[in-house]
Amino acid sequence: MYRNRTCGELRIADVNKEVTLSGWVHKMRKMGGMTFIDLRDRYGVTQLSFNQEVNHELCEKANKLAREYVIQVSGKVAERSSKNQHIPTGDVEIIATEITVLNAAQTPPFTIETETDGGDDLRMKYRYLDLRRNVVRKNLELRHKMAFETRKYLDERNFMEVETPVLIGSTPEGARDFIVPSRMNPGEFYALPQSPQLFKQLLMVSGFDRYFQIVKCFRDEDLRADRQPEFTQIDCEMSFVDQEDVLNMFEGLTKHLFKTQKGIDLPDFPRISYADAMRQYGSDKPDIRFDMKFVEIKDLTTGGGFGVFDSSEYVGAICAQGCASYTRKQLDELTDFVKRPQIGAKGLIYVRYNEDGTLKSSVDKFFSEDDLKSWAERCNANPGDLLLVLSGETEKTQKQLAELRLEMGSRLGLRDKNNYKCLWVVDFPLLEKDEELNRFFAKHHPFTSPKPEDISLLDTDPGAVRANAYDLVINGVEVGGGSIRIHDSALQKKLFSVLGFTEERAQEQFGFLMNAFKYGAPPHGGIAFGLDRLVSLFAGLDSIRDCIAFPKNNSGRDVMIDAPSRIEQEQLDELGITLHLKVK
Ligand code: AMO
Repeated sequence: MYRNRTCGELRIADVNKEVTLSGWVHKMRKMGGMTFIDLRDRYGVTQLSFNQEVNHELCEKANKLAREYVIQVSGKVAERSSKNQHIPTGDVEIIATEITVLNAAQTPPFTIETETDGGDDLRMKYRYLDLRRNVVRKNLELRHKMAFETRKYLDERNFMEVETPVLIGSTPEGARDFIVPSRMNPGEFYALPQSPQLFKQLLMVSGFDRYFQIVKCFRDEDLRADRQPEFTQIDCEMSFVDQEDVLNMFEGLTKHLFKTQKGIDLPDFPRISYADAMRQYGSDKPDIRFDMKFVEIKDLTTGGGFGVFDSSEYVGAICAQGCASYTRKQLDELTDFVKRPQIGAKGLIYVRYNEDGTLKSSVDKFFSEDDLKSWAERCNANPGDLLLVLSGETEKTQKQLAELRLEMGSRLGLRDKNNYKCLWVVDFPLLEKDEELNRFFAKHHPFTSPKPEDISLLDTDPGAVRANAYDLVINGVEVGGGSIRIHDSALQKKLFSVLGFTEERAQEQFGFLMNAFKYGAPPHGGIAFGLDRLVSLFAGLDSIRDCIAFPKNNSGRDVMIDAPSRIEQEQLDELGITLHLKVK
């Protein structure tokens, strides 16, 4: 028997009990004739004490240990004279009577502490040591609990977890596929699923009625803090449902997770149309922890003789409460912020609504105080507030203003990580036009159902057709997305033609789905949550990497196992592949 207790469970009530623990040497301290060791396992830390005078030999043995040695220790639980209030086991220690070294350890390349001295790259290279740190392990424990509660919630509501294949053909979901050569079919390739979309729809045709799967998905796209090339979805599909049924079911799941994991009772989630989200926040994933909605003031600015505004399609303002006292330096910083290439504004106009009621702006040459007052009134500004104004082409400017709004929200401390605000964004456009290619693409995917009242627009104004598609947004993060699907093959055919698919290409790519729909497809719809994003929100993380056991870095590399990597010529030969690499 290696242990009969863990390092996290002994309390004052256990005093005098004989126990055996196993774990890692976390810390060692020598004080006079005493040696203290903090022994660590997944459950916590327990202090071991060795007295030179009482047991010289054992104490000498303890003194030869070092950080991260794996040891087994037996002894008696005793009350500590100097207690540690910061840990649950801090009232007791173990007066050791026996130690066994189970394994020696080299000095780790960084300290296994919450505040470690290891940089990002080093920690990723030795991820198995990084995972020993409390902060990292806790994120994975949370992830496990959230996945577990999700399964419980869905199982209780008749959802059935079904595994779908990982070696499939290309799915048309926007990102690039990862491809896998097939040895048995030379010259042919599988693709890894970007999501199980088609399979879950086929399961509805099979009558499974309520499906879910916690499933790995793969997308070969540029990486960001909230994107990994392989990530996990809570993927769901339901039959005989309309949009309302899906939203209610998954609002319920989200509330259940908040309740069980964080003890938070969330109110019903507000809903906003895509069009309103873009108009009010310049984003399809608005952070509604704070207000600061956009206010259009184009009509109030036209004719002032200020060329920049006059020639702009859009002039929009946000009101930063209590910021009229911003210094020149602070305003310059904001100007530099919007001019950064990633944001791309040409400049920033401001209006100070001073405490004394006077108004001062960076465009005083063109506008009278009365003009500025009318802007301030439209923005519901009060003395003490600051208006920030951007202008230009509508969509571009709204996006820039959205970045500025988030920046101001952060500066004003309005984006508290522990304040959770959920939002459904609904009525997404069905199609998106690529102006360069002059053709439409599906905004979500080509199986998304148009709103019935908009179907007639498919012929006349495809860009205006709204979809029965929705996203769940929490604190400005797109956590999930889904739609009601087309279950009628004639409508699906029509959509493919609007998307510019020839009959042959549609048949080649989705023939199996269209055929399946001929055999009695129920009305159906679903949603997929990004589990990594959901967990990282719950844990208050800046990057989803921190809740993934073995993540990839920003270049898509696993630096620990050094993947991706070259393969042997033999393997290539077997696959019939000749490489013609353009080496950079
Ligand atoms: P969608 O493409 O919106 O929908 O993806 C669903 C959710 O998955 C998460 N997500 C990601 N998380 C981490 N890294 C990534 N690279 C990444 N890409 C997406 C997001 C997103 O909201 N089949 C449809 C769902 C459906 O219609 O039912 C789909 O995959 O949180």
